[in-house]
Amino acid sequence: MYRTHNNGELRIKDVDLQVKLCGWVQRSRDLGGMTFIDLRDRFGITQLTFNETVNSTLCQDARLINREWVIEIDGVVKERSSKNLKMQTGEIEIEVGSLKVLNKSKTPPFTIEDETDGGEELRMKYRFLDLRRKPLQKNMILRSKMGMEVRNFFQEHNFLEIETPYLIKSTPEGARDFIVPSRMNKQQFYALPQSPQTFKQLLMVSGYDRYFQIVKCFRDEDLRSDRQPEFTQIDCEMAFVDQQQVIDTFEGLVKHLFKNLLQIDFKMPFPVITYDNAIEKYGSDKPDLRFDMKLNYLDLLAKGSGFKVFDEAEAVVGINVPNCADYSRKKIDELTSWVKRPQIGAKGLAYVKYNTDGSFKSSIDKFYNTETLKKWASKCNSNPGDLILILSGDKLKVQKQMNELRLLMGERLGLRNPNDFKPVWVIDFPLLEKDEQTNEYHAMHHPFTSPKDEDQNLLTSNPSKVRANAYDLAINGVEVGGGSIRIHDRQIQEKMFQILGFTKDEAELQFGFLMKAFEYGAPPHGGIAFGFDRLCTLFGGKENIREFIAFPKNNQGKDVMIDAPSKIDLSQLNELGINLPKIED
Ligand code: AMO
Repeated sequence: MYRTHNNGELRIKDVDLQVKLCGWVQRSRDLGGMTFIDLRDRFGITQLTFNETVNSTLCQDARLINREWVIEIDGVVKERSSKNLKMQTGEIEIEVGSLKVLNKSKTPPFTIEDETDGGEELRMKYRFLDLRRKPLQKNMILRSKMGMEVRNFFQEHNFLEIETPYLIKSTPEGARDFIVPSRMNKQQFYALPQSPQTFKQLLMVSGYDRYFQIVKCFRDEDLRSDRQPEFTQIDCEMAFVDQQQVIDTFEGLVKHLFKNLLQIDFKMPFPVITYDNAIEKYGSDKPDLRFDMKLNYLDLLAKGSGFKVFDEAEAVVGINVPNCADYSRKKIDELTSWVKRPQIGAKGLAYVKYNTDGSFKSSIDKFYNTETLKKWASKCNSNPGDLILILSGDKLKVQKQMNELRLLMGERLGLRNPNDFKPVWVIDFPLLEKDEQTNEYHAMHHPFTSPKDEDQNLLTSNPSKVRANAYDLAINGVEVGGGSIRIHDRQIQEKMFQILGFTKDEAELQFGFLMKAFEYGAPPHGGIAFGFDRLCTLFGGKENIREFIAFPKNNQGKDVMIDAPSKIDLSQLNELGINLPKIED
């Protein structure tokens, strides 16, 4: 037996107990007659002591031991003379009687401490060492617990966990597919699923009412802090439900997770906002409701005063930033450069300072008198001491830019506390979005989403105006989940493919299997998928989902530890019948 206890387990009540422990050497301190070693495993740290006067050879051996060596010790639990009450095991230490080195370690390329000195790239390369660090362990433990709680909830609610295949035919979810060649079917390819969408719908046709799966999805898209090429969904589907029932069920899941993982009780129901309202008020379809700072439309007040920029703009939009009228010229200039960056794309930034003495100072004083600015302040719900920031241009663009500026100002004012959670359902998404360049329609959610009954007659006459039975759950400005009530009728599904520009043959070739299934008694059904990595990240109070995935990819989609993707052997390519054209490196 390697050990009798783990390193987070022993307490003052265990004094005089003979124990055996194993673990990694966190650090060792040599204080002349005494040597101390902190022994670590994922459960905690236990202090070991070696006393020169009691056993000098053992103490000599202990001095040779370095960080990250794996050791096994026998010893007796003793009460510490100087206790460390911040540590779970801080009241005791082990007086070591024998020591065995199970494995040595090279000096790690970075310190295995909560605050490490290793850069991100280096830590990704040695992810197995980075995972030894407590902050990452905490994240992995949270993820594991969340997985368990998800399963508990679904079991209590009569859901079945059913696996779906990874080697499939493409399912369009808006990204590119990852492709896998087939050796047995030369020159043919599988696609890795962007989600199990069509399979979960088929399971409903098969009568497996209430399905869920914690499942890997694969999307070849540009990466960001909340996007990975392979990520995990909590994927769900239900039969014989309407939108409200789906929302109620999964609100229950989210509530269950908050209660059991963070001990936070949410009032139900969560607030609901329509897509149009979310864009109008926050400039985003995943609004951060932890703070107010809504968008105010100043067009009527701003236009017709000879300021060309506003006169010619489709929209003039302001946000009220509380208590920032004292912003210096330098700070405003810096904000102006920030909104002008290509990622935001604003042409400029105007401001109105509503000073504490009731006077106004603005970047556009030349065109607007105090009377007018007072009206602006009233429109923006400003009080003396506040700062109004204004952007203008094409409405949709300005709304999006304002969303970014709002989030930045919320951050600066400390209004985005990661431990404060504000969920909101966003409903009534448009069914389609038009690509202005190609004039083609794309499904806003995916092609299997049903149009609202009352908007069906617009499908031919005005497709852009059709609303979908689609819903997203946003928490703190993060889209954590999205779903819809599906089409379950062959004719409507065919019509949808037609609007999306598929010929009858193309639709049949790609989705014939689904439409065929709809001819054999498809029940009305709907569902949702939550981003599991995103939920964990949110619950952990962080922003980058990589910190909650054991072995993530970097921003170039690479795993630098195992060096993937990488070239493959010519023989492997030949076997697959693939002949790669030569390209310059
Ligand atoms: P959707 O595409 O909205 O819906 O995805 C559902 C949720 O998955 C998460 N997500 C991601 N997380 C990390 N990295 C990514 N690249 C990534 N892409 C998406 C988000 C998102 O809300 N089949 C539908 C669901 C349905 O209709 O039931 C679907 O996949 O949190």
